[in-house]
Amino acid sequence: MAKPRFLSSTRAIPERASVPRHLAIIMDGNGRWARKRFLPRVAGHSRGVEVVRSTIKLCIERGIRYLTLFAFSSENWRRPPEEVSFLMQLFVRSLQKEIERMHENGIRFRVIGDLSRFDDTLTRMIREAEALTENNTALDLTIAANYGGRWDILQAANQLLAAGEVEDGEITEAALTPYLSMAYAPEPDLFIRTGGETRISNFLLWQLAYTELYFTDTLWPDFDEPAFDAALTSYGGRERRFGRTSEQLDTASTPDSEQQRDNA
Ligand code: IPE
Ligand code: IPE
Ligand code: MG
Repeated sequence: MAKPRFLSSTRAIPERASVPRHLAIIMDGNGRWARKRFLPRVAGHSRGVEVVRSTIKLCIERGIRYLTLFAFSSENWRRPPEEVSFLMQLFVRSLQKEIERMHENGIRFRVIGDLSRFDDTLTRMIREAEALTENNTALDLTIAANYGGRWDILQAANQLLAAGEVEDGEITEAALTPYLSMAYAPEPDLFIRTGGETRISNFLLWQLAYTELYFTDTLWPDFDEPAFDAALTSYGGRERRFGRTSEQLDTASTPDSEQQRDNA
């Protein structure tokens, strides 16, 4: 199992930067956006896909390296079957339509979540899209689909057990994290939730431990460039202390070489 390349925020202090390296978004409010316009809820989801496209572009322009989008939670199966089936079809259609352009733009595409509940066509398309884009480096785009933060932690623990890597009957952070779904990325620096709710809804529970949280009432289909930049500006003004005092930050330099090597 390859060791993660990035520092864990609870084991070492991550590097500082004014622009988030990794942005994670709960794209919420599609249904309400549609309802306000007397449209069916699914019209909001269709409009939401357009905002995904513009957000990807903004991330590349602003120098964000990793973008993770919550598209479908493990709890969203509780929705009316027609809405679930519309969302699945929308995923298939969007992937078919966008994957070539994403590839041309240097985007590496990945899906995290329990794919076992998806039909074979969708699963195959996802795997093909991941293989096609695996050498791209402009932006790492991750779609969380049938994803749940608790599922992620449990699947990692189960993989660790199955690998027989639990030493002295104790699970350590260093042993567990390589098995988490997003072990290939640094932990999110900034989390955005649109749509006015101030909750995590079982998104990246482990990975958000030290992430800066940003909640906005803007509904996802209305999340345009000024709204995006407002979130980045808020992030730029945050003091990320990772347990230290403000005074310590004034003298702190970038992580020392020992910390850099922590997970190397
Ligand atoms: C988020 O928008 C999209 C998904 C969960 C797929 P919602 O559909 O949750 O929109 P609201 O919260 O009902 O407005
Ligand atoms: C969270 O949104 C999941 C996604 C955006 C995919 P929900 O709208 O499903 O969250 P809750 O149910 O209001 O917490
Ligand atoms: Mg919602």
